[in-house]
Amino acid sequence: MRIVVLVSGTGSNLQAVIDAVKSGELDVEIAAVGADREGTYGIERSDEAGLETFVVNFNSFPTRAEWDAALTAKVAAYAPDVVVSSGFMRIVSPQFIDTFGGRYLNTHPALLPSFPGAHGVRDAIAYGVKVTGCTVHWADAGVDTGPIIAQEAVTVEDNDSEETLHERIKVVERRLLVKTLSELAASHEAGTLRVPQAG
Ligand code: GRF
Repeated sequence: MRIVVLVSGTGSNLQAVIDAVKSGELDVEIAAVGADREGTYGIERSDEAGLETFVVNFNSFPTRAEWDAALTAKVAAYAPDVVVSSGFMRIVSPQFIDTFGGRYLNTHPALLPSFPGAHGVRDAIAYGVKVTGCTVHWADAGVDTGPIIAQEAVTVEDNDSEETLHERIKVVERRLLVKTLSELAASHEAGTLRVPQAG
């Protein structure tokens, strides 16, 4: 199963995928890693790992539609079976998702449909929930919407800050992402990889 991974930040989830591939735990081919801006640690990690990388800089395009079309073309050139948004902080168009047959995977640091958006951890603490977690799902063109594949809970401690809670969630999130990719790769190998229907 060929994957293209998209990042916007530090790429620790991506690093877990790279490590799992290197150790033989995860049988996928990382065709390339892309970012929406220059200078991300995610791209630096990928260069260090000897992976192909690219940047389609959101700020270099006059409109979102033009950026989206350029991103779609760039990713499509690698002919991925699955595209993984791993901390990729941009909404993509329905055309982007259609190009990859709906096979656009996202991870989110909350138990969706609770706390979607860029501040899922902060919002969970602000609401006062006692349990939150992480979600791996097929993404559609909404904000953290689309059919859920896997979730795992993480307990919120009384003295948690956004940072301490997010770090504990990310430990679980990395494991869940690798496990989900591994299961998807097995389905792909068997010729049974399907994007589940919502609802
Ligand atoms: C992850 O928690 C992801 O779900 C969220 O941002 C974080 C990215 O972390 N959208 P990293 O870049 O993989 O370290």
